[in-house]
Amino acid sequence: MRPSHLEDFYSFLRFPSISTDDQYAERLEECADWLVKKLTGIGLETKLVPTRGHPVVWARNQYRAEHRTVLIYGHYDVQPPDPLGLWDSPPFEPVLKDGYVFARGATDNKGQILAHILGIQETIEQEGELPVNLHLVIEGEEEIGSANLGSFLSENRDALKCDVAMVSDTGMIARGVPTLSYGLRGVTALEIKVTGPKMDLHSGIFGEAVANPITALGQLVATLHDREGRVAIAGFYDRVKPLEDWEREAWRKLPIDGDKLVLKETGVPERFGETGYNSLGRGCARPTAEINGIGGGYQGKGTKTVIASHAIAKLTFRLVPDQEGDEILKLSKTHLRKNLPKGVTLEITDGHSGPWYLTDPHSPIGEAAQRALHKAFNAEIALIREGGSIPIVSQFRGILGIETLLMGLALPDCRAHSPNENFPLENLEGGIRLNKAILQELAR
Ligand code: BES
Ligand code: MN
Repeated sequence: MRPSHLEDFYSFLRFPSISTDDQYAERLEECADWLVKKLTGIGLETKLVPTRGHPVVWARNQYRAEHRTVLIYGHYDVQPPDPLGLWDSPPFEPVLKDGYVFARGATDNKGQILAHILGIQETIEQEGELPVNLHLVIEGEEEIGSANLGSFLSENRDALKCDVAMVSDTGMIARGVPTLSYGLRGVTALEIKVTGPKMDLHSGIFGEAVANPITALGQLVATLHDREGRVAIAGFYDRVKPLEDWEREAWRKLPIDGDKLVLKETGVPERFGETGYNSLGRGCARPTAEINGIGGGYQGKGTKTVIASHAIAKLTFRLVPDQEGDEILKLSKTHLRKNLPKGVTLEITDGHSGPWYLTDPHSPIGEAAQRALHKAFNAEIALIREGGSIPIVSQFRGILGIETLLMGLALPDCRAHSPNENFPLENLEGGIRLNKAILQELAR
């Protein structure tokens, strides 16, 4: 690896570009400025486009009418590093250990977006120019639902006219196995607040006279699933489309054991979830309801004998074809209101929402992607649907009318969103090769 590539990677990773916390707004701004400098430096015309939230970095090369136009998308924002105590080294001070770089954002998405940038850089260095027209769009709000990127696309629809989008923000099923993802799940979020008394109460005085909001919230969220882990909201599965035969066949042939992988990577005592689906099929193709956070009452040291006035929980639902976010929200609100225990009130606030995506990996551009993946990694291609979500991808289709190639470089043990997130330099190098190859494949 060229020392300057590694320096770029470390510089990029040092920005604590945490989009969910407004305290970090300036750090995101600095990170975006760094990208503008880097992209200008490799010869792209680059600008910072302000939005209602964090700015979008937009870079282009010289337009040529005879060339195909490609949009490459990624994000410079990251998830919070919490819980900090579980990191072996500080999350925004990258370190290299046994070929892996450890830092928040190493995989999701800075390492992968840098593979695009360096692949573009090396192509320009070697060929003098790119064989395609390029739009590189790097946003700062992916991890909070991309609420402002849709307007950016609509407002610049004509300027952004292109033939295909490319994204490296998904997974490889195993080290060395080039992976083309042809689907993503959608995601839609809710926050609920259960309130009892107007203030925290002495539990010895009022303990038996009022409902405890934390107990009520616990009972309420427990109604979301049955004992096997199936979502118990009426109508939740009604629109779920069965898998295609070719998908089942392709997934059976994948060179991994999904169940074993789950046990190894997570450390759980046993696998859990809907019966009739193995881990991989469930992750990629089944919808879920998740409680991502819960809180209420005294969280400090020692004991405090108190009845809290309220308790909150943060929920998300992962959606699959043909579920609709709005409908799922409606069904779940009805369920929550119907199952609310006595003696408390319920407030529900909508969060972000983004639809699922499904495309054809055997289309002409899908085949071009497979050839480039093969050239870069020299192994059989895995075709999968991803369990995660990239909210903007369905809008590339809706607003720009283009399909998206999802060629991810994240490994199953990359620890995205978790402590000790990491990215192997091997994949940064593979990603650079992949980008050089796909640019050639899309040339005409
Ligand atoms: N890179 C992920 C998406 C992803 C995760 C793809 C796992 C494949 C496997 C992306 O940055 C992400 O985390 N998206 C969020 C979106 C949400 C916050 C709206 C997600 O999936 O939770
Ligand atoms: Mn992420």
